[in-house]
Amino acid sequence: MKRVLSGIQPTADSFHLGNYLGAVKQWVDLQKDHDAFYCVVDLHALTVETEPALLRRRTLVAAAQLIALGLDPSKCTLFIQSHLSEHNQLGWVLECLAGFGEASRMTQFKDKSQKSGADRTVVGLFTYPILQAADIMLYQAHRVPVGEDQRQHIELTRDLGQRFNSRYGETFVIPEAHIMKSAAKINDLQDPTAKMSKSSASNAGVIDILDATDINVKKIKSAVTDAGKEVVFDEKNKPGISNLLTIHSALSGISITELENEFAGKGYGDFKGAVADVVTAYFAPVREKTQQLLADEAALLKILNDGSQKARAVASATLDKTYAALGLVPRNK
Ligand code: TYM
Repeated sequence: MKRVLSGIQPTADSFHLGNYLGAVKQWVDLQKDHDAFYCVVDLHALTVETEPALLRRRTLVAAAQLIALGLDPSKCTLFIQSHLSEHNQLGWVLECLAGFGEASRMTQFKDKSQKSGADRTVVGLFTYPILQAADIMLYQAHRVPVGEDQRQHIELTRDLGQRFNSRYGETFVIPEAHIMKSAAKINDLQDPTAKMSKSSASNAGVIDILDATDINVKKIKSAVTDAGKEVVFDEKNKPGISNLLTIHSALSGISITELENEFAGKGYGDFKGAVADVVTAYFAPVREKTQQLLADEAALLKILNDGSQKARAVASATLDKTYAALGLVPRNK
């Protein structure tokens, strides 16, 4: 069975629609016929300063949401990144392999550091993609289901894996990004040329899946649309309507062409109403299930601890192999 690994940051109170359609929906599908490892990357979240109680809460909310969205802990390994010190250990090895220039070219680092200014940019933000490469390579993953914004980080992972293998002998599987064309980039409802993101200046264009129905209905109904009144997919001239068509289609399973036919001659208002219905019907049960899971914290922690144990078996074997390849003297076990 091919192996998959992916991770998500617990940096918000809820995942947004882009996280789900770009990544988590694929995680759920892939667990059926892959040996799947999924983690809440709480160490990556430390690059954003967060109040400790909030980080703890968000980490558990993230895990509960993943299960509520369809991850089945009996079919996949769900764990918390910081439970395994192997991530940091391999991270260091890869930092010694990555070039400074190579890391400086990561566009997410460039964007984020530009936004906060050099003085407020932490070193962890710079090495962030290298820790991500360690997350992936520790599990010898073949595929990494992510949204388009992560493609460059997966390319870096491949480069580092190939470099290690050619210097020290075959050690790592070289992973491939698994990116669904149709939902690779879900855009902000208020600025449909920018990706939906938890770090957007305004939350008005971001659909948080745990938000109450009325909040999301309001956001969808006030989504920015385009000139004209035809409901047709045209990313260049109608980015707003195209984004809403993508969202409807991904959640309802109705093709974009069928939706265009269904709404031919009807206005944007009717279409937005239909998108709101689809989104709210889809996520209402997820919200309820998440609350149920959070109500029994001990049971949730047990799932995560079981996951960490399964993850450790794979991660520690890879780390041993890596250290041996490097010539590090093995410790007595
Ligand atoms: P994060 O937590 O920012 O986002 C989680 C996933 O959601 C996807 N995504 C989107 N997809 C489509 N449209 C959008 N608007 C949108 N916004 C976010 C992201 O592409 C991602 O797949 N660096 C990663 C976390 C990470 C990771 C890993 C991923 C750490 N280690 C190992 C894969 C493998 C990140 O910041 O994701």
